[in-house]
Order: sequence, then C-alpha cells, then structure tokens
Amino acid sequence: MSDDPKLLEHSYDGIQEYDNPLPGWWSAAFWATIVFAFAYVGLSPFLIATPAEAYRGALTDYSGKKDRRDLADAKNVSETILERDAHDPKVVSKGAAIFAARCVPCHTADGHGLIGPNLTDLYQLHGTTRLDIFTTIRGGVAGTPMLAWGEQMPPTDVVAVAAFATTLRGKNIPGKSPQGQRVEAFK
Ligand code: HEC
Repeated sequence: MSDDPKLLEHSYDGIQEYDNPLPGWWSAAFWATIVFAFAYVGLSPFLIATPAEAYRGALTDYSGKKDRRDLADAKNVSETILERDAHDPKVVSKGAAIFAARCVPCHTADGHGLIGPNLTDLYQLHGTTRLDIFTTIRGGVAGTPMLAWGEQMPPTDVVAVAAFATTLRGKNIPGKSPQGQRVEAFK
C-alpha cells in the first residue's frame, strides 16, 4: 500500500477527493482497543473485585476497626465517669430522652419493668456497679431480648442512657418483682 493519496474518480460540483489511507499508528491503536476490550472483559473476573467482594473486604476492614474503636471507647468509660455523668443534668436528660425512645417498650417509661427487669428496685441481675450497668447496656445479654445497644447507637449515647439508668435505682417503683442480687442505691 502506497502512502500517496489516490485521487478518487468521482467529482461533485467539480469537487474531487483524495482517498487518504489511515496512518499506520492510528489503525494500530484502533485494533489495539478491540483486542484490549476483549482481553479486559475476559480477564476482569480474575483481576477486578466484584462489588460483592469489595463490600466484603470493606466490611472486614470496618469490623476490625470497630473492634479497636469499641475497646478504646470502653477503656475511656469508668465508674467515676459514669458517676459524674449521673450527676450531670445535661447528660441525664439526654439519657432520659434516649431511654424514652429506645428502652420503654421493655422497661416501661418509669423503669418499673415489663419484659426487662425493674430498674428502680435494689436488685441487679448483672454485676453490682454502674460500670456493670453500662456493660450490660453496651453488650446486651445474649439469648434474651436485651440487645447490644453499643451496636445501635454512638458510644456517647450508651454512656448517657447508662448514666440515666443508674439514677433510677432506689426509686422503688412497684412493678416487676426483684431479679438478681440485692445492691445498694447509687449515691
Ligand atoms: C426488647 C426488650 C428490651 C429493650 C428494648 C431493652 N431492654 Fe434492657 N433488658 C431486657 C431484658 C429481658 C433484660 C434482662 C436480661 C437477662 O435476663 O439477663 C434487660 C436487662 C437490662 C439491664 C440489666 C439490669 C440488671 O439488673 O442487671 C439494664 C441496665 C437494661 N436492660 C437497660 C436497658 C436500656 C438502657 C435500654 C434502652 C437502650 C434497654 N434496656 C432496652 C429487655 C430489653
């Protein structure tokens, strides 16, 4: 094939045209894109993560980080912090609002218990301290309707609702009969 343009036979209104061959690099690129497209489609299942795989990967990554975050959060919550928060009206009213929104179906509005235990009496099922109350709320009680609320709300909300829950103890509102061991009201 010669690179010399060939003058085509036809003429329209006196205008003639050359038959210019496409430059070699252009044709090569054109064929290369076709070869690439087939190779890409054929190989993509092996080379590129499917959305499902990408999702699983991201989830594993997230769970790993979440465990570390939870550990870090738990380390920052202490008996002292919960006691201080239980005396902080701002935290307590935030906790009360969360309790009203999330906990009332099982513990009732004033905490005297229904499906869940009476939180106002002087008995505790799990542990004895404020931190035990927090831990139960955060981690739930497996095999019972009590969820792991740490998975449902941000850590600060769990702390607030736990602080609020500790203020209920000792109100002794008649309701569900005592469960667990006898404890003192929190100061
Ligand atoms: C679906 C019902 C349900 C909901 C909603 C629920 N709980 Fe519970 N809760 C329970 C049950 C049942 C138990 C007792 C578990 C057991 O048998 O150990 C419990 C136990 C507890 C305990 C432990 C009491 C103790 O004596 O050790 C605390 C504290 C508590 N819940 C607080 C909360 C808070 C705060 C919320 C809202 C964020 C909440 N619960 C929401 C059902 C529920």
